[in-house]
Amino acid sequence: MKSPLSPKHYLSEEIFALEQKNIFRKLWIFAGIKPALAAHNAFMTREIGGVPVLLQNCSGKIRAFENLCPHRLMPVQTEEFGQTPMRCVYHGWTFNPDGTVRTIPTERHLYNYDAETRQSMCMKQFAVHELGNMIFVCLDDNPLPFDDQFTPEFQEKVAEASMFFGPHAIHSNRRLDFNWKLMFENVIDYNHIPFIHPKSLLPAIPTFRHMFNNEKQEQPALAQISHGPEPVELHQLSFTRECFIDQQPYYWTKHAVKHYGRIDHYYNFYIYPNVNFTCVMGVAFPIQQYHPISAQKTQIRLTCPSVTVDNEYAKRHAANLRSVLLGEYRVMDEDFDALLAFQKAVHRDAPIMEQGHYESDLIAMAHVYKSLLNA
Ligand code: FES
Ligand SMILES: [Fe+2]
Repeated sequence: MKSPLSPKHYLSEEIFALEQKNIFRKLWIFAGIKPALAAHNAFMTREIGGVPVLLQNCSGKIRAFENLCPHRLMPVQTEEFGQTPMRCVYHGWTFNPDGTVRTIPTERHLYNYDAETRQSMCMKQFAVHELGNMIFVCLDDNPLPFDDQFTPEFQEKVAEASMFFGPHAIHSNRRLDFNWKLMFENVIDYNHIPFIHPKSLLPAIPTFRHMFNNEKQEQPALAQISHGPEPVELHQLSFTRECFIDQQPYYWTKHAVKHYGRIDHYYNFYIYPNVNFTCVMGVAFPIQQYHPISAQKTQIRLTCPSVTVDNEYAKRHAANLRSVLLGEYRVMDEDFDALLAFQKAVHRDAPIMEQGHYESDLIAMAHVYKSLLNA
């Protein structure tokens, strides 16, 4: 089957601009985890669809703003994570929880705004949806109903798993020279595992070992986006898979206050368009966000919360989280090498991909993607 996508979908800046407008500024996009914003005035900044976004805990409520001061368009918060009130660094304006301007130092002497202008100035607010401990933001003025993007069953599963996130997490960013779509395609395409991860991932997952040895499986086949000929819809692109994992638990799992699911299972949650997160041994939740920077550049944002560990042990937990992160990167680096090679080789006149039956998920996803793009 020919792919619905052509090489230009991985190369063109015009298509990238359309994606930013019709996908990233239209859909609900996962923005961050709630434990990172637990305290009053805790904040995080990031970019979504080319727009600087500030998430700020305002007296217990998480709000999302365009991170631009109405005065001279400086970012109000400049760090990636922190805990300070909304006060612009440039001339010290402060803001109310609804984004309106609260105080302006030396206002009477220097600014002289008329009452209407003074009242109208504010940071733009965006819609926020909390699903368990996962925070989603929608930049559109008329946000899509959340249920149109995610089924109630999927929402329930994500909410349940994410409620196991404890107060500790580790975060890292990396920029890589490939198109963001390759990451979602790659995490769904399980057939690369024996070739790209023969030593890292394959030995740990019996389902894949059996599958590739043509052995009878104790587990049902992996979840598919679509089972029939009907056209696939947006809400079908976010789904979960799980299978056995054959690995020694981390030594610190005995300090976990509570585990998620089965300790011998590997859970994967795919959140269209640009996130997947797993649960490893019931205690760690590496969340990968493939944040588009340009047609050929992606920022990989890896956030890894863990379940709560007992008080005594919590002090030493940072080192564990770091080792989980490095373990993730060990597998992801194998993927990155392949995706970087693809991006380097592909060119505008390259042929259309020929995809097989097992790639029906990728084909279904590409159809939805194209309909979003051209909406
Ligand atoms: S730019 Fe923010 S106070 Fe002047
Ligand atoms: Fe992989």
